[in-house]
Amino acid sequence: MNKRLVLLTSIIIVLLLSACEDEDNIPENVTYTEHVAPILFKNCTICHRPGGNAHFFFLTYEDARKNAGATAFLVKERIMPPWPADPHYMEFVGQRVLTGREIKMLDKWANTGTPKGADYKLPPAPKFPYGSTVGIPDLRIPVQPVFLKRNSYDKFLLVKVPYELPSDTFAGLIEFVPGKKNMVHHVNGDLVKYQFEKKKDVFAGERVVDMAEDTAGLLHAYERLGLPNDDGTYPLLQKSVVNYLLGVVGQRYPEGIGGYLLPRKGAFLLNDLHYGFTAKDDVWDSSYINIFFSKSPPIRPTQEFQLGTLSSFGTAPVIPDLIIQPNTIKQVYSKYTVPDDISIVTINPHMHLIGKSFKAYAIKPDGDTIRLISIPKWDFNWQYFYTFKKMVKVPKGSTIYAEGVYDNTKHNMNNPFSPPRLVRDQNGSMKATDEMFQFIVTYLPYQPGDENISLESK
Ligand code: HEC
Repeated sequence: MNKRLVLLTSIIIVLLLSACEDEDNIPENVTYTEHVAPILFKNCTICHRPGGNAHFFFLTYEDARKNAGATAFLVKERIMPPWPADPHYMEFVGQRVLTGREIKMLDKWANTGTPKGADYKLPPAPKFPYGSTVGIPDLRIPVQPVFLKRNSYDKFLLVKVPYELPSDTFAGLIEFVPGKKNMVHHVNGDLVKYQFEKKKDVFAGERVVDMAEDTAGLLHAYERLGLPNDDGTYPLLQKSVVNYLLGVVGQRYPEGIGGYLLPRKGAFLLNDLHYGFTAKDDVWDSSYINIFFSKSPPIRPTQEFQLGTLSSFGTAPVIPDLIIQPNTIKQVYSKYTVPDDISIVTINPHMHLIGKSFKAYAIKPDGDTIRLISIPKWDFNWQYFYTFKKMVKVPKGSTIYAEGVYDNTKHNMNNPFSPPRLVRDQNGSMKATDEMFQFIVTYLPYQPGDENISLESK
């Protein structure tokens, strides 16, 4: 054989081997301790644990055995672990996607009597801190508990969470943790930065204003919350420092990237603490904010813009209008041309219940496409902030496109109305039964070498 043929044959063998490795090389005896536990610990326990967002756990053999059938089914359908983004289109930090081999192993285990296996092969269960998706916070600030009346729907609150620190402090991550995980739908919060001498008491004023009840306007609500300085002027507001959507896992960027300067006196202003449906009984929600300090100042603070509903520029509207007639499927898009080179770190696609699919990419001035994200099957319950493994450079003059498809037919299992009704956006109404189309981009001004900076390190 000549050399090239040898090379070619070995490449083919390697390819065949790796295909076998992935799909068909399933052990004779699939056991819990050796094969199943490692898969569950790596991909499931983060949510299926005490304080996680699922109501049952994957910590013990019993947990796995009881749920073996449902597990085999849900992983095959790729419903669990929830990861709506197509991993073949783009990979992100912390993605949880099972390989074909792992899925087959879980299936075999469920169908061969769920054997336990030898105890010594069991890896240690992962440890997750209680009440955080990230770690043990340096500071935890409670949000004023909120009373939720039974069987109500869609409450939007403006909430002040004041604090005072011994000195100005750098923070790497600010994490919102809902008390009632299945009821808090989302939060978008800003940081009110006081100059120390201009505000005597950051704790004065009300903590919560129900936006449905206060009709006198936002400024009136700000006054009720006691936001202004003592002389009546307004302090600086840093937008969007703490965000939450169902299923979100906190993401810390490497030191120096992102991060915040928390002044000695400040307050988090949760613009819309949105509760979806509530339970059968009256409950109190006690959410809180975790703060993780950082050694370095925010050398390169992140910035943000958004396309679609309430777009940052008013220049990236939804096209055509987001008005979806009953019994129709409608495609919309939004686009924005970036005026400078940017490095995208995190993206967040956002639609509501009748969303069907979402895709975003950028077209460079030379016509090349930069992939951003594809979500073939939209899932209202899992709206992650997706962080790229490495920053994505989008050069000046590129146009970012976001495309969404909405299914307002009776075939959409998530359609809140039966029979289907006209659904539309209402001035950015965030009610789940109204629609939204948004693509939020978190970025830095580009610096040479950004493409090589990994965002995976903590
Ligand atoms: C990001 C969070 C998250 C991850 C990761 C996750 N789950 Fe879930 N899972 C949930 C939530 C939330 C539910 C809804 C039911 C509940 O509240 O427990 C659920 C439901 C389930 C159910 C259905 C229970 C029922 O109602 O019958 C099974 C089975 C399941 N998950 C298995 C898994 C397995 C196996 C993995 C890993 C391969 C996994 N999950 C990963 C959050 C998660």
